[in-house]
Parts: sequence; C-alpha cells; structure tokens
Amino acid sequence: MASLRAHICCLLSYATFLSLISCDTLRENHVALFIFGDSLFDPGNNNYINTTANYQANFWPYGETFFNHPTGRFSDGRIIPDFIAEYAGLPLIPAYMQPDNKNFIDGVNFASGGAGALIETHQGYVIGLKTQVSYFKKVKKSLQQELGDAKAHKLLSRAVYLISIGTNDYLFPFSRNSSVRQSYLEEEFVAMVIGNMTISIKEIYKKGGRKFGFVNLMPLGCLPSMRANLGRRGSCVDELTKLAQLHNKALVVALQNLKNQLGGFKYSCHNFYESVSKRLSKPSKYGFEEGKTACCGSGPYRGILSCGGKRGIKEYQLCENVSEHLFFDSVHPTEKASQQIAELMWTGTVNITRPYNLRALFEA
Ligand SMILES: *[C@@H]1O[C@H](CO)[C@@H](O)[C@H](O)[C@H]1NC(C)=O
Ligand SMILES: *[C@@H]1O[C@H](CO)[C@@H](O)[C@H](O)[C@H]1NC(C)=O
Ligand SMILES: *[C@@H]1O[C@H](CO)[C@@H](O)[C@H](O)[C@H]1NC(C)=O
Ligand SMILES: *[C@@H]1O[C@H](CO)[C@@H](O)[C@H](O)[C@H]1NC(C)=O
Ligand SMILES: *[C@@H]1O[C@H](CO)[C@@H](O)[C@H](O)[C@H]1NC(C)=O
Repeated sequence: MASLRAHICCLLSYATFLSLISCDTLRENHVALFIFGDSLFDPGNNNYINTTANYQANFWPYGETFFNHPTGRFSDGRIIPDFIAEYAGLPLIPAYMQPDNKNFIDGVNFASGGAGALIETHQGYVIGLKTQVSYFKKVKKSLQQELGDAKAHKLLSRAVYLISIGTNDYLFPFSRNSSVRQSYLEEEFVAMVIGNMTISIKEIYKKGGRKFGFVNLMPLGCLPSMRANLGRRGSCVDELTKLAQLHNKALVVALQNLKNQLGGFKYSCHNFYESVSKRLSKPSKYGFEEGKTACCGSGPYRGILSCGGKRGIKEYQLCENVSEHLFFDSVHPTEKASQQIAELMWTGTVNITRPYNLRALFEA
C-alpha cells in the first residue's frame, strides 16, 4: 500500500515536473502573432460589425477552396496571415470580434476589410486602424490579468505585429465622390496616410511591441476593379499606381526613421508591389494562366466587385479553376497567390523582403 502510494506520488510529481518544463519552454520560445489592417488580412472581423455586404465576404463562393464554407476572408481560401501563422507553428489566428474568442496567448487578428490609416476612410462601415489599436490595448490588459505583468510584457515584446494598411486610403477617394483627397497634393496626402500609420505603430510600441512585419502597396491601378472602371481600354490606372509608388517610397523612409527613434524596434517589409507586378506581367512563370482578370465578379476583367451576388448586383461569373488566377475577386488575391506571397515574406531574401524576413523576426 505504502509503495503504491509512493508510486502514484512519484507519477504525479513527475507529471508536474514535465508540465512545468513544457510550460517554461513554451513561454521561453513562444512568439505570438498580432495582426492589424485591411481586407488582405481580415479573417472575418466584419462579420460581427454593423456594416453592409460591400465590406463583407461571409457568403459563397468566398471560402470555397480551403474551408469549404465562407469565413469572412476576402479569398477563395486562406489569406496571408493564415500561412504566416502556419509557418510560425501557430494555429489559425482568430478574429478579435469573434464573440467566443477570449484566449490571446497565440495572438489575435484585428484587421477589418475596408479599413485605412485615415479615420475618414469608409468611416462607419469598418474598424479603422486607430480603433484596432485601441482594441489591442484592451487585449494587453486582459493578458496582464491572466499572466501577470511580467509574463504579459514578455509575450508582447516577443510577439510579431503584422500590418497591411494604406490601400483603402488611396482607393476610397477614387471609388466615389469624396472630398478627402481632392483638397490635398499627392505628396501631402501620402504624408498624412504614412503619418497616421506611424502614430499607430508607435502606440503598439508603447504597449510593448518590438517586432513588426509589413507589406507595401500593390500597383493599385492594375487591380481588376481599377482596370475595369477607370482604365482606358483595360489599361492600368497610372495615377493610382503612382500614388502606391509614392506611398511605398515614403514607407521605406518612415520605417527607417522608426528604427532610428525607437530602441529595439525591428521590422520586415515585403515588397508586395514587386511580387504582384512580376505575377501580372508573367503569370505563367508563377503557375498562373491569368493575371489581369479576376476569378469571380462581373464585367470586363471581372472587375466589378459583385462576387457572390450580395453587393447590389446579383449576376456574376465564377471561374472553373481558381488556381489559374492571381486575383480571386476584383481586388483580392487568390489563396494560391497569397501562399506565394506569404512564402516570400517568410523566407524571402533581401531583394524582396527586407531588412529581415519574417522567419528571422520570429526567431529574434
Ligand atoms: C446599423 O446601421 C444601419 C445603417 O447605418 C442603422 O440604420 C442601424 O440602426 C444600425 N444597427 C445597429 C444595431 O446599430
Ligand atoms: C489621422 O488622420 C485624421 C485625418 O483623417 C486626423 O483627423 C487624425 O487626427 C489623425 N490621427 C490619427 C491617430 O488617426
Ligand atoms: C460625382 O460627381 C460628379 C460631378 O460633381 C457627378 O456628375 C456624378 O454623378 C457624381 N457621382 C456619384 C456616384 O455621386
Ligand atoms: C487548375 O489550374 C492549375 C494551374 O494552372 C493546374 O495546375 C491544375 O491542373 C488545374 N486543375 C484542373 C482540375 O484543371
Ligand atoms: C532574389 O534573389 C534570388 C537569388 O538570390 C533570386 O533567385 C530571386 O529570383 C530574386 N528575387 C527577386 C524578386 O528579384
């Protein structure tokens, strides 16, 4: 009897010992992933806000490829952050707005389709970047309550903060009659977008964030939606692409300044402009049949954002084989394209993802 009790006791303490060890190693090497931004990174936050179908993708055929049901992702399947989480050995990072979501140990995703760095961008229909950062502050409080200040601080300083923002700030003034942009010079407008984005980055830094991952802007004038609506005979809209180029130049300078100003600030910036341009000009080199025309939508280049038939226009076409396309709908890349981009963000060399790739940031 005594020896049996000793045996049980031994088993228990051995189990406790193991769990302590694994707990400690988890904490030691654990890198969480926090995500901010727009529809490129939104896993379904807009499913839970009072908005319109223009800002949502929680209907068929969105989600047809990987999940087999719509999730709110603006893609046939997974989006870039889903692949980054996989490469980092993390589970899919859930939407912050998802009601049952209370565990933030692995990180959480605040991104919202249609969001911009400027408050005016689709105001009232989306969760803007500033509001996303205010939610992050709540998450920090909740982590502090759960783990204590020291462990929460450690988790936040080791975490990677992935951000995709800016596209909507530039598209918004083109998409409807908006007084926002017309009253500014291009350079001033870009400075304002970058300035607001910088404020949000500094807020995250103040709360303990150190490692940031970015994508710059695609050649915006070449999105199927822009080509179809504004481009002459389907050519790219140079005015918009030029804005993206100005933004991307200013982003390089802003990130370098942040690095110089903020101790311990590290970043990775993927040249999304370059990787999309290459796939547009030589789709077959990257395994696509079609770069210009979306898989899902209507009108020329399927450039009308009618995919799913819920945004005011009921009729739309859907391609047979989504893997042949760079764009799924008139604005967003397919899962296949997203995976290629995510790989370049994760392991890309300095000619495409600099100064570090995301793998290096996660290991740092
Ligand atoms: C949602 O937005 C619509 C239009 O903006 C408004 O009429 C409605 O009252 C809002 N609903 C809620 C629950 O806030
Ligand atoms: C961002 O830009 C808007 C103008 O859209 C401005 O009113 C606001 O103060 C700026 N700052 C932040 C943090 O959003
Ligand atoms: C935009 O403004 C122009 C000129 O002011 C007007 O002709 C046009 O109908 C407006 N478009 C929309 C969608 O409001
Ligand atoms: C779909 O397209 C991809 C890329 O072109 C190709 O590899 C694949 O074989 C196609 N699948 C079918 C069922 O045709
Ligand atoms: C970057 O350089 C590698 C070799 O170092 C090359 O294979 C790759 O094609 C280059 N990528 C780009 C986008 O230029």
